[in-house]
Amino acid sequence: MAPQLRNPPRRKGSMADVPKDLMDCITDLEKLFTVDKQRINELCDEFVKEFEKGLTEEGSSIPQLPTWVLGFPNGEEKGTYLALDMGGTNLRVCEITLMGHGKFDILQSKYRMDPSVKTSTAEELFGYIADCLKQFVHDHHEGVVKEELHLGFTFSYPCDQHAIDHGILQRWTKGFDVKGVEGVDVVPLFEAALKEKGVPIKLTALINDTTGALIASNYAHPDTKMGVIFGTGCNAAYMEVAENIPKVAKHNLPPDTPMAINCEWGAAFSDRPDVLPRTKYDVIIDKESPRPGQQAFEKMIAGLYLGEVFRLALLDLHQQGHIFLGQSVAKLQTSYTIDTEILSLIELDPFENLRETIDVLETKLGIQCNEQEAKLVRRLAELIGTRSARLSACGVAAIAKKAGLTKCKVGADGSVFNLYPHFKARGAEALRDIFGDAGDDIDIVHAEDGSGVGAALIAALTLERVKAAGLSRECMLRKGVSHAAVS
Ligand code: BGC
Repeated sequence: MAPQLRNPPRRKGSMADVPKDLMDCITDLEKLFTVDKQRINELCDEFVKEFEKGLTEEGSSIPQLPTWVLGFPNGEEKGTYLALDMGGTNLRVCEITLMGHGKFDILQSKYRMDPSVKTSTAEELFGYIADCLKQFVHDHHEGVVKEELHLGFTFSYPCDQHAIDHGILQRWTKGFDVKGVEGVDVVPLFEAALKEKGVPIKLTALINDTTGALIASNYAHPDTKMGVIFGTGCNAAYMEVAENIPKVAKHNLPPDTPMAINCEWGAAFSDRPDVLPRTKYDVIIDKESPRPGQQAFEKMIAGLYLGEVFRLALLDLHQQGHIFLGQSVAKLQTSYTIDTEILSLIELDPFENLRETIDVLETKLGIQCNEQEAKLVRRLAELIGTRSARLSACGVAAIAKKAGLTKCKVGADGSVFNLYPHFKARGAEALRDIFGDAGDDIDIVHAEDGSGVGAALIAALTLERVKAAGLSRECMLRKGVSHAAVS
């Protein structure tokens, strides 16, 4: 067998011509952003403890939310379902036909979500969602929906669920700040909007994108035991058994009942941020965010924030008189002007003289930089990208430890996972730092469409359980009490 490339590619180009002052800055940045082998192992152990605590009544900074998704699909699920995926920038409506053998067919429409919706009111948000569904029904069904079309709603924010079709939003994340939703069950809000707009669709399951990724990936590849999203936000889901979840004891589920847990790990250590290898830039991001003191881990690693960490570090170095001397850095002074894509472009710069990096700084930020400064800029992007990949992998490793998973696939999706250069290789290296060669047995692969197909599958599994238990949908779902009977 041909030898495998184990380590992520290292940056090209020598640092020999970088003046001492800039070299010192680079060394300082390396100290700030590097999460070495020892640190990552310590953090992983902290994560395991926090994951365990989250399953108890005592709770922890990691919510470990029971999802009432009670098991994996068997690959033979069939039927047609609707899925609604409320991402950060788009709203996607899909009609999914499950064909068994892990196969499916998908028809979908995307609707652009105006950024102002993010800070609007519950009425506006759910009204907009209902309008999109109405449009979909109009375009694909001539306005008429057969009664048996069930909907899985992928709502990827932390929700307390007492049943699969209920979810009280704990808090908004990813920069959302819609009034009147936190602390409220989002399903009645959604249903009221559907009713008002005359959209004849019934919600069957409310799901998180990570649970969707877990279930959709397992449908296609049964050795998938974790679903993770590394995108605008980040999070993971995995399957527990009821006896390991003390906080659901009151439901008297048979001890071996599988239950998908939506970890909501983005919130990890928000109460003890010093456990995390935070920098002064992470502290500023948190302080200036709409929800300070929340999502401490997410703010260090997710796509929404990587460009902002980069911006703050560059601005700091400029203000200290190290880079971009005598230039106007107006764009650098505006929050969230740097998209993660800029870091990707810089990391992908193939030229020895970093021509592309220099161009990106000029076109996107209006900054002229010389080759030596470009070397610092490139190194900073690498450090931020590497920290994100290693910390993400640390979360995956901790779930594997907690759940005793030694060999499995992890279905991963999201813009950072799919598009950020070297993210996978850097994550794999971190897994080896934690598990040695056995780290290669935790294989993080691209997930199936969790927010679409996963939502459809979960709707199918829910209806199947209802049927098997001979309960009416209303009885099981609306009262939200009969899970033990149907598990
Ligand atoms: C949310 C999670 C979600 C993740 C990825 C986080 O901000 O809290 O529910 O799974 O983003 O979309």
